[in-house]
Amino acid sequence: MAVIGIESSAHTFGVGIVDNGKVLANEKEMYRIGTTGMIPNEVAEFHVGNAGQVIKRAILKAGLRMGDITGVGYTRGPGMGPCLQVGQLSAKMLAKRMRVKIAPVNHGVGHIEAARIFSGLRDPVALYVSGGNSQILKISEKPFRHYRVLGETFDIGIGNMLDSFAREIKLNPAWGSTVDKVAKGGRYVQLPYNVKGMDFSFTGLATKAATLAKEHSKEDICFSLEETAFSMLCETAERALLLTNSNELCVCGGVAQSVRLREMLGIMAREHGARFGFCANEFNADNGAMIALVAERMLRNGYSVPLARCDIEQRYRVDSAVVFP
Ligand code: FE2
Repeated sequence: MAVIGIESSAHTFGVGIVDNGKVLANEKEMYRIGTTGMIPNEVAEFHVGNAGQVIKRAILKAGLRMGDITGVGYTRGPGMGPCLQVGQLSAKMLAKRMRVKIAPVNHGVGHIEAARIFSGLRDPVALYVSGGNSQILKISEKPFRHYRVLGETFDIGIGNMLDSFAREIKLNPAWGSTVDKVAKGGRYVQLPYNVKGMDFSFTGLATKAATLAKEHSKEDICFSLEETAFSMLCETAERALLLTNSNELCVCGGVAQSVRLREMLGIMAREHGARFGFCANEFNADNGAMIALVAERMLRNGYSVPLARCDIEQRYRVDSAVVFP
């Protein structure tokens, strides 16, 4: 079955097409964040302007015709309301036009499943690190098959922390990925380390780093901020690995593109004899293929939602979504 998946929860309008787990296309257009961050209505307007051409491009790239699509998936949430609505409406229009079934997908499940499936892991502890999310999860079968949250941030996601820090110290472009680039060659400056059991917090760390940026070089502060935040993630992921008696670990989400974070997690996993996996950067950044991948499994298991009941949920928690094998 060729399933098309639409992702529009934040800055990316992505359209992916998969056939039996094989990605045939993964096209996207991304809203460029300026100095003000993301204004939901502006981003949604950007998505409206791009939806049609990205869908067309994906179908062409896949070498398919409209009639070859047998199912549709879209990001139900979490995300920014106006942005989610553009993806939801595009998906509903496609499903109605092609008379195929539609499946609403949890964005976080999309990220985790992409990393798990593409890295060939069976039942890993998953570290999900993106703009709005920083969580450690693992599949639990009770009371339904879902990703249970074992630990998470008390405040903001690590990606948003790095993005806002980049804006604060005026990096150009003001992205978290720029912090990652500038960090190379820096020296360590002491910063607050906030871990409580399986949970952690980033705001105190970011505030202190921004204050110290006035006295230290950008390289030193970016390096120290990343080393501290990534160590917090490693410590909690390590605890989760040991407490669940797991021998598999994966990292996913936008921040999983950081080579340094993957290196630290890889070392930790190896020390415990655990397999460590992640997917290609194209699937760690927000994308439509991960949504198509999950939708295909939902539809294959007979789960779909009538068009009239296809809604969005801005605060759709990852642990409330049923995950199909
Ligand atoms: Fe994401």
